[in-house]
Amino acid sequence: MADQAQRLRDFVRKGQGRARIIAVTSGKGGVGKTSTSVNLAIAMAQRGSRVALLDADLGLANVEVLLGLNSLYNLQHVIDGEKTMSQILVDGPGGISVVPGSSGLAKLADLNDNARQNVMTGLQELQGRFDFIIIDTMAGIGLNAVAFVVAADEVLLVATPEPPSMLDAYAMVKTIHARRKDAVIRLMVNMALNQKQANAVSTKLTSVTHQYLGRRISYLGFVPRDPHVSQAVMQGTPFVIRYPQVPASKSIEDIAERLINQKPTGETGDMGFFRRFAQTLGLASNA
Ligand SMILES: Nc1ncnc2c1ncn2[C@@H]1O[C@H](COP(=O)(O)OP(=O)(O)O)[C@@H](O)[C@H]1O
Ligand SMILES: [Mg+2]
Repeated sequence: MADQAQRLRDFVRKGQGRARIIAVTSGKGGVGKTSTSVNLAIAMAQRGSRVALLDADLGLANVEVLLGLNSLYNLQHVIDGEKTMSQILVDGPGGISVVPGSSGLAKLADLNDNARQNVMTGLQELQGRFDFIIIDTMAGIGLNAVAFVVAADEVLLVATPEPPSMLDAYAMVKTIHARRKDAVIRLMVNMALNQKQANAVSTKLTSVTHQYLGRRISYLGFVPRDPHVSQAVMQGTPFVIRYPQVPASKSIEDIAERLINQKPTGETGDMGFFRRFAQTLGLASNA
C-alpha cells in the first residue's frame, strides 16, 4: 500500500501534461454522447487542435463503429500492461487519434491496483501529446461511469428536451457537484427541434441546478435533430465530414469553436485529474 501511494505521488509530481481533458457525459443513454464526442473531436481537430478521443462508453454505437474502425488493440491491452497508450492509438478521420475502448473499463472500480495504474499511466502519456482529450463516457451515475467525469476538469453534459433526459441530467450534475464543486460543467442540448426549445431546456436546467445546488452550469449551445446524423452513421462517416453544410455540422462547429476559446481559468494539466481519478476509485487516497 505504501509502495503504491509512493508510486502515485511520483506519478503526480512527474506530470507535465497540458491537454485539456473533457468528459462528455449524460444522465441517460441514447442522447447523443458518442455522436457528439466523435464529431466535436473532429471539428476541434479541423481547427488545428491535437485531439485524442477516448472511448469509455461501451454502448452499442461505440466510437469504433461510428468511425468504421476495427482495431487490433484496445484499452484492455493497456489495462493488462501489454501495450502502451501510444501503441494502441489509431488514426481516425479528420486528423483525430482514437483510443479504442474495452469492456474492461466497465469494471474500473473492480480492477486491481496495477490495472488502474496502467490506465492512469496511459492517460498521462496522452496528456503530454495532445491539446484535448475527449472522453466519451458511459451514461449513469454509478462509480465506474463517473470516475472519468469527476476527474476531468471540464464536463460536457449532453441532454435532450425529453423530460427524463433533463431529470437525469440534473441527477448527473448533483452527483458531480457532490464530489467535485469546482469542475466546469457545460450543457449541450442535443436533438432540439429549434433554438427556442433548446433555450427552454437550458433555462430550466441551469435554473434548477442554481436553485437546488447553488451551482452554475453554462450553456454551450445546441445541436438540432437532424436526419443527416443517422444517415452519416449508416455510412460509417462522421456527419461533420460527410455533411459539413447541414445544421448539425454547423452547430457542432460553433460548439467546437466556443469550447476551444473557453479555456478554464484554473490551471489545467496539473495532474489533478489523476489524483481525483484515483480518489474516486478509492485508490491511494493519501497520494
Ligand atoms: N442531433 C441528432 N439528430 C438526430 N439523431 C441524432 C442526433 N444525435 C444523435 N442522434 C442519434 O441518436 C442515437 C443515439 O446517439 P448516440 O451518440 O449513440 O448516444 P449515446 O452515446 O448517448 O448513447 C443514434 O442513433 C444517433 O444517430
Ligand atoms: Mg454512446
